[in-house]
Amino acid sequence: MSVNIVLTGLMGGGKTTVGKMLVKQLKDYIFIDTDDVISGLEEMSIPEIFKTKSEAYFRELEKKIIEEFSQEDNLIISIGGGAFENEINRENLKQNGKVFYLKASVDTLYERIKGDTNRPLLQCENPRGKLEELLIKREENYLKSDYVIETDGKDLESIVESIMERIQI
Ligand code: S3P
Repeated sequence: MSVNIVLTGLMGGGKTTVGKMLVKQLKDYIFIDTDDVISGLEEMSIPEIFKTKSEAYFRELEKKIIEEFSQEDNLIISIGGGAFENEINRENLKQNGKVFYLKASVDTLYERIKGDTNRPLLQCENPRGKLEELLIKREENYLKSDYVIETDGKDLESIVESIMERIQI
């Protein structure tokens, strides 16, 4: 049994991409994306959930799912960019997991997600400004992760390598 590996950071930080690559190297792990789980349970896209049910409803579901997955082992969990804002989520995730903050500058994040319509919080006039605002607001909590992985200017392989170096499995 091995502790969970949790990937956090802002939208566009590469959590899902990195998680999918990481799981190829960690054969006894399973990759989980909390947004995908929520979407599957609700049979709706994330923007649809925000629109028809509310963000608060989404956050409750996110919290419940994180609580459940935190009881398991051998999971690579990619959490939504807002999940680490919640103290209970942070406690649950850290209880049986090592948390990695995939850190990137606003420019990098924006390059990666511009034009994407699957992020309800960025469906606004100035998505770059919104990313900047969210980063300023949230970074304090992202920095409560166990490890900070700088991703600016790095390719996928070296990001995965940096994570592998920090987990002794
Ligand atoms: C959110 C990030 C999204 C998703 C939802 C809210 C956020 O996940 O959970 O749109 O509050 O930052 P990603 O970070 O995987 O895009």
